Amino acid sequence: MCGITGYIGEHTSSAVLKTGLQNLEYRGYDSAGIALVGDELQVYKQQGTIDGLSIPTTETATHGIGHTRWSTHGEPTDENAHPHTDCSGDVAVVHNGIISNYDDLKQELGGHLFESETDTEVIPHLIEEELTAGADLRAAVMRALTRLEGSFAIAVTHVEYDGIVAARQDSPLVIGHGDEGMYLGSDVTAFVEYTQQVSYLEDGDVAHIDATGMTVFNDGERVTRSVQTVDWDATAAGKAGHDHYMHKEIHEQPTALRQAISGRIDELAGHATLEVDLRDAFLESIDEIHIVACGTSYHAGLYAKELFEPLTDVSVRVDLASEYRVHDGHDTQRTLVIAVTQSGETADTLTAIRQAKSCGMTTLAITNTVGSTITREVDDALFIKAGPEIGVAATKTFVSQVTILALFGTYLSRLRGTLAAGDAADLLANIRQLPSAVQIVLDAESQIQRLASQYADSEAFFFIGRALGYPVALESALKLKEISYAHAEGFAAGELKHGPLALVTEDTPVIALLNSGAIADQTRTNVKEVEARGGPVVGLTTTGQPDSFCRHTIEIPELGRLEPLVSNVALQLFAYHVANELGRSIDKPRNLAKSVTVE
Ligand code: M6R
Repeated sequence: MCGITGYIGEHTSSAVLKTGLQNLEYRGYDSAGIALVGDELQVYKQQGTIDGLSIPTTETATHGIGHTRWSTHGEPTDENAHPHTDCSGDVAVVHNGIISNYDDLKQELGGHLFESETDTEVIPHLIEEELTAGADLRAAVMRALTRLEGSFAIAVTHVEYDGIVAARQDSPLVIGHGDEGMYLGSDVTAFVEYTQQVSYLEDGDVAHIDATGMTVFNDGERVTRSVQTVDWDATAAGKAGHDHYMHKEIHEQPTALRQAISGRIDELAGHATLEVDLRDAFLESIDEIHIVACGTSYHAGLYAKELFEPLTDVSVRVDLASEYRVHDGHDTQRTLVIAVTQSGETADTLTAIRQAKSCGMTTLAITNTVGSTITREVDDALFIKAGPEIGVAATKTFVSQVTILALFGTYLSRLRGTLAAGDAADLLANIRQLPSAVQIVLDAESQIQRLASQYADSEAFFFIGRALGYPVALESALKLKEISYAHAEGFAAGELKHGPLALVTEDTPVIALLNSGAIADQTRTNVKEVEARGGPVVGLTTTGQPDSFCRHTIEIPELGRLEPLVSNVALQLFAYHVANELGRSIDKPRNLAKSVTVE
């Protein structure tokens, strides 16, 4: 939820750390701070974004650590900003995660001086106690960690220590190996302009990093962590001339989709060739799939359920990860649990997966993030290969998640012999056409922008759809409320008359999914109910089939069961332009963060 950076090497540390924090700001942006080690340890921190943090230009420290915060314990104030220090001011700590026993520890540390309301502040004081008892910094950190309960990634510096000590337990940390020093980050974005050579720390790891390399320990033993090359660079993580990351990422969808599909369809044989490691015999034996996910990823799961059920004889249940419960009597040996998560770090999704594993169920992750926590915990992982997504609003990863799930559905059904060759060919053809269909919608942006500007000041927005249109209605409402703060709700179209219709007025546009795959004829009845009450309707219809009952139509290329997915792109643009009209902080909406690592 928060972002951590660290650097030791030949560059000016303050500049590298500041860049790192700017790159990580999407993880949290309530406050920011840096601790620099030179002749003495200097801490600069304050409420607000990293741009507001002033560091003297004379600062020439050789190494340091930084933090950008999404508040959990304590308000976003200067005092609660990280880094936190011990009583002497010699130790500085930045932390991502939660220390669940911090209240008890604070009492045990009775004689120490605390200056913040954070859980983090117990850590430098615990380290201080170990240092006073004679340990060096690495040993002091290791001993302090044994007293912590909860999840954490931390980075620690000391005024007399020529290096950084980092540790992880259930929160991500990556080390970068550069020609001009060593880097530390909550994720690779923190330092990708300096190096693409990275090592992912694992749970229980404690690393010592100096200017020449790293040494990693786990459970007291020295361990090796491989150096991998990430396959994207700083250009992929930049804005490329767009005003916002969200706009850039919406426009990257054709490319992201081509990356997701590439090499995964056997054109001659006409089937998906996914790199699935789960045994065929297991996939043939299952009778149930549970999809667990949060937010946008949950909506991708709902879309996949609608796609899967006609393809396979497996029943599919989709649960919000935070609501997932496995009840006694469930046949855990015949269930596959699929976690859908862009970041691979969402705490609710990790908890659901751990519950599934503890019941003996087999788990598969669909994720964008190589090296993420979930990939280390599941039995198998499929990567969506969308490239970095920096905007807090998930956009390109949604379409890629659905695409990989669709490919997995055809893979499974072929294995189980439940899919007629013609049906597989149709869906695979739609998947292949998806990038160009999305491009057609992107090219029609000006029409969508005009509609957004006409309705931006509306009292509320309602999205309605059936079948494959329903998850898109939910997702479009989430996108709009998240970045514009407008009241937006998604409804199953048939439910409108059972209550929500009371909310419809001339000032509440209703956006209706009238695509193929969305049982449009029945939804048209609901459109008429809205128009009869003066509510303006924007209909998403198949190209060439404009709907006379709708006040406006946005035409979407004909694409069978993937057509509502293409409509979703139009509605991402709609949300973006409404938020832009309203002058919102699109990439960093209030109160939110990209990766939610607390339950
Ligand atoms: O990284 P994940 O896919 O697990 O994240 C799940 C949600 O937090 C995420 O989709 C969130 O709802 C987005 N900000 C929505 O745009």
